Amino acid sequence: MTQQLLNLADVKLSDDLYGDDNYQILKNLLKQRVNKRRYKHSKGVAKTAKHLAKIYGEDPKKARIAGILHDWDKGLSMDEIRVRARELHVDVSDQVIEDMPWLLHGPTAAAALSQVFPEFGHDVYQAIARHTSGAVDMSPLDCIIYVADIIEPNRTFGDMDGIAKVRKKVGKVSLQKLYFLTFKYNFEFLVASDKQLFPDTVNIWNSLMWKFGQASNWEDAKARHQQLIASASSNKPSSKKELSSKKELSSKKESSHKKEPSSKKESSSKKEPSSKRGSSSKKESLTSKKSSKKKSSSKKSSSKKEASSKHDSKE
Ligand SMILES: [Fe+2]
Ligand SMILES: [Fe+2]
Repeated sequence: MTQQLLNLADVKLSDDLYGDDNYQILKNLLKQRVNKRRYKHSKGVAKTAKHLAKIYGEDPKKARIAGILHDWDKGLSMDEIRVRARELHVDVSDQVIEDMPWLLHGPTAAAALSQVFPEFGHDVYQAIARHTSGAVDMSPLDCIIYVADIIEPNRTFGDMDGIAKVRKKVGKVSLQKLYFLTFKYNFEFLVASDKQLFPDTVNIWNSLMWKFGQASNWEDAKARHQQLIASASSNKPSSKKELSSKKELSSKKESSHKKEPSSKKESSSKKEPSSKRGSSSKKESLTSKKSSKKKSSSKKSSSKKEASSKHDSKE
């Protein structure tokens, strides 16, 4: 595999953290890591995330940054992503690392990039980490990246009729409801395609059912849902290095769930000091476009890669 090394700590970002200059820098860096199709998809996700953020009252430029970075590690091979997950101490089970490595590229990207560009903030990296699986306590930005990943206009894989139905709901339902519809689309698609599910999928689905499903006893269901949210949020971030931890990536509070379309601006949209560049000695291994072509070399291996809690492994 051809690899290109680049010291990301040497990358100079503009003080306009989520502005056009930094977006261009990150876009060009991504272009060196992923194949053409992935690059096009990532630009589509960035553009769609920006659009969704405008509609739902979130920070459009922050959403665009999260969108362009969400598949940062997608060009790595399954073996490389396993190694990276262990090196970065991504807190996912051994079962997922060994048997479902295609789910790791979100958490590994968040863990790696948060060390090099911590100024983009926890909420950006949480959204990147969660885009492969979803979560029970999704923030508005988490929802935006998750949804944008599926409905971006360049997507050609999946149940296109199902995706079209989700697209039609943009701006007509709340952001949480849009996330629910997207998660449901994924769930149905994966089951219909005989594909594997992320182990937490059932918990996430049940949580969504307590909010959007046909609960026979709404008060009891709501109480159970609150307990699950509290449990998921019980571990607060203690350091940037631990951003990859599943506990920390679940630390967003339930408050973010209740936004309606265009309800209000995201409180966390304030820019963090750009002086906080961490781990300056860290080097990122940039995988060339060629390396990403290694995947899906046979129908059998492709079939395994496609299995996912979300079908972005086949974007
Ligand atoms: Fe992805
Ligand atoms: Fe993606």
